[in-house]
Amino acid sequence: MNNHFDTIIESYLQHQVGIDELFLTQTLAEGMQQHIRQLEKDNSFVNAGIGNRDALQYQDQTRGDRIYWLDKSHENPFELEFLSRIDDFIHYLNSTCYTGINYCEFHYALYDSGSFYKRHIDQFRDDPNRKFSLISYLNEDWLEEDGGQLLVYGTDAVNSISPASRKAVFFKSDEMEHEVVATNRKRMSVTGWLKQI
Ligand code: OGA
Ligand code: MN
Repeated sequence: MNNHFDTIIESYLQHQVGIDELFLTQTLAEGMQQHIRQLEKDNSFVNAGIGNRDALQYQDQTRGDRIYWLDKSHENPFELEFLSRIDDFIHYLNSTCYTGINYCEFHYALYDSGSFYKRHIDQFRDDPNRKFSLISYLNEDWLEEDGGQLLVYGTDAVNSISPASRKAVFFKSDEMEHEVVATNRKRMSVTGWLKQI
């Protein structure tokens, strides 16, 4: 699995945005897709907010997704497998790049048709703990006309990334501006942050 870690880190170092097309195994991606469908039926998703703690606001003009925070205590096999893979990635990143990451947080995100997330950066103004953003997608057979691309604004180019299943995207949380363009189809992902706390 380390070759996937190398792929995403090398690509990050070269382009400011790391992409690995096959970061998740097919089995894990399918498991997480099913888990999301079940959680949605159970009404376990909540509207996503913007800002941190006291400043948290709900503003559907900015973002229209719903989220569900992953937690080892849920003892869900797919959450556990994903979080353990992230632990491995953090260990690899710290030992190869001396990044000093010591915490992470991840949520599932569900965008219904018509939803988007306007241009933003992920690090909060009042909390510098988020160091890297890591997003993995769970959408089979995604087409250009389905929309929902992630646009990442680099120094000389805008990277348009389709949210195709198994792909992961990795970038610095304090400097890379990005947005999710309106999706024309239900769009599923698992999004999170590697932190130093
Ligand atoms: C976010 C975000 C991007 C994506 O949740 O902060 O920017 O492609 N997500 O889902
Ligand atoms: Mn973001």
